[in-house]
Amino acid sequence: MKLYLICFLFIVEATLHNALVFKFSNVICESHNKSWFVFNHCRLKAVSRDRILLNMEGTVLHPVSNVQVHIKVFKRASGYKPWLYDIQIDACRFLKRSYNPIAKIVYGLFREFTNINHTCPFVGPQIVKDFYLKPELLLLPLPTGDYMLALRWLFFNRIQFDTNVSFVFVEDIATKKKVH
Ligand SMILES: *[C@@H]1O[C@H](CO)[C@@H](O)[C@H](O)[C@H]1NC(C)=O
Ligand SMILES: *[C@@H]1O[C@H](CO)[C@@H](O)[C@H](O)[C@H]1NC(C)=O
Ligand SMILES: *[C@@H]1O[C@H](CO)[C@@H](O)[C@H](O)[C@H]1NC(C)=O
Repeated sequence: MKLYLICFLFIVEATLHNALVFKFSNVICESHNKSWFVFNHCRLKAVSRDRILLNMEGTVLHPVSNVQVHIKVFKRASGYKPWLYDIQIDACRFLKRSYNPIAKIVYGLFREFTNINHTCPFVGPQIVKDFYLKPELLLLPLPTGDYMLALRWLFFNRIQFDTNVSFVFVEDIATKKKVH
């Protein structure tokens, strides 16, 4: 009886987990000032239907100690429409103390996959390796949809490069029912 219950719970747990999709669908990287920042590579690789890895490597050619990130979130509804968030953060300040809750969620998703895990200044290779999206780190209710997170990076307030990442999110209805 007990074993039966454990098996049942395990199956329910697995079903809940599978119901949720949170994966990359596209990535675009582009430098606007190749004498300060160049991309060596930037691509997605599918390792299974629901796990898509993002690998990115770029090089900061001269040390920088003043970095801003303009974060915009878009949701697709016949073309990407601006959705909720449009913020600019001071990355050097943020890396000392994560003062912005949205930036904190975005950074929380990729921090374990990158060497961008220290305070300013930055120079040399900036690497994001085998990064995949973990729904348990999202900590934010999100409606099902196709999204794009557009990050525009500025050094000393001058535009240097863009990293635009699209992803699919499918709400876990089962978990929602359980929670409510
Ligand atoms: C990234 O997305 C923003 C917002 O849509 C757009 O203005 C920008 O041109 C995009 N960058 C690239 C390299 O596609
Ligand atoms: C581009 O990068 C160089 C450093 O190599 C810098 O001197 C210059 O100001 C940058 N241009 C812009 C528009 O940021
Ligand atoms: C930062 O990332 C590098 C490379 O992944 C790792 O070796 C190092 O331990 C990390 N440091 C911190 C403070 O997390």
